[in-house]
Amino acid sequence: MKKVKRIKARRWLVILGEVIGLILCLCLGVFLFYQKQISDLTKLGYSKIASEKILFSKHKDYIMKLGENKTVNKAFESEDYIEDNLDNYSKIKYFDQKDLISNINKLLEIGYSNSDINIILSHGTNESVTEFTKHERVHYLEEYFEYDYAKIENYDRYVNYSDQFGSSEEDTIIYINLNIDKEDYVDPFIVEEFSIDMLVNRHRSLKEDYVPSDLVTVDSKYASSNDCQSSRIAYNAFIEMYNKAESEGYQLVINSAYRSYQDQLDIIDTYRNAYGQSYVDKYVARAGFSEHQTGLAFDIGSRNSNIFADSKEYEWMLQNAHLFGFVLRYDKRYEDITQFRYEPWHYRYVGKEIAKYLYEHNNMSLEEYYVLFLDR
Ligand code: DAL
Ligand code: ZN
Repeated sequence: MKKVKRIKARRWLVILGEVIGLILCLCLGVFLFYQKQISDLTKLGYSKIASEKILFSKHKDYIMKLGENKTVNKAFESEDYIEDNLDNYSKIKYFDQKDLISNINKLLEIGYSNSDINIILSHGTNESVTEFTKHERVHYLEEYFEYDYAKIENYDRYVNYSDQFGSSEEDTIIYINLNIDKEDYVDPFIVEEFSIDMLVNRHRSLKEDYVPSDLVTVDSKYASSNDCQSSRIAYNAFIEMYNKAESEGYQLVINSAYRSYQDQLDIIDTYRNAYGQSYVDKYVARAGFSEHQTGLAFDIGSRNSNIFADSKEYEWMLQNAHLFGFVLRYDKRYEDITQFRYEPWHYRYVGKEIAKYLYEHNNMSLEEYYVLFLDR
């Protein structure tokens, strides 16, 4: 009897073992199948988190057909994913913006098309796009935003400015990006870093204690005074230019180069006393707002003539200064952009590359160059 019971128990054990084995095999099969599905998606470029969500929301086939798509990947990773917007996500370019998906959702809700949203995202930052989603729907996106350098946060100012002054979209964008619609000298951007392409003007200032780090004293051979100083990099370029000019029979001289904050205050006083405030407003920058404080600006004269604009040196500079990295900074043609009157004597060192570009583009202003290439 005991023997029969033992045989039965053993048989049950075998059956139990077989059932457990079967269940384990099934689990392994499901696990391997799941791993394969996930790896199909990750191989396509989707993250593990996105792949899992894609799988559980039964969109694998859709995604396999779609291929890699960073916006869709981000959407599936995000808590803000909305099922009805999946097709839109797949048609909107990816931008590395923290709130990309929630902003896309809001813009779709406002009624923007996918191409509108591509425009908005490509002209904004995470913050400016987030702000723009609070704005009612706008209608002139394409006009303004065909220009790469148009900024979404400036949209209202573009429209107001061109309504008021009738300027072209292109000009309007340049003016507004330069803050020309704002009051001069009020709430400026503070320029901290020295660089040969730094831009200092009525809306971009230097601190009172700003001094270029490579300041050197200019040899009196090149200047009309003994205490002239400038940035070394600009000084070296000036010497190269001076020598070339001299070898061709032209006599350049530096009348003013680096000016400290205090020097600029003194100059303002001198000119105010001599010519009055309205002259100062047009020709002399307020202290902190003069690019002379960068050490890169040079007021150039001729040893042969008291009036530089009438001298042969002036003509030589117009033709040759760019070859040495200098540009005429306050040209007559764009007083509205620089907001200073024409100064035939004021040259600015920007390096050969930028000087060549400006020269070859109809003596473009440094302000326009900044908007086009540096303000990112
Ligand atoms: N004359 C120029 C604008 C200056 O004062 O910096
Ligand atoms: Zn000057």
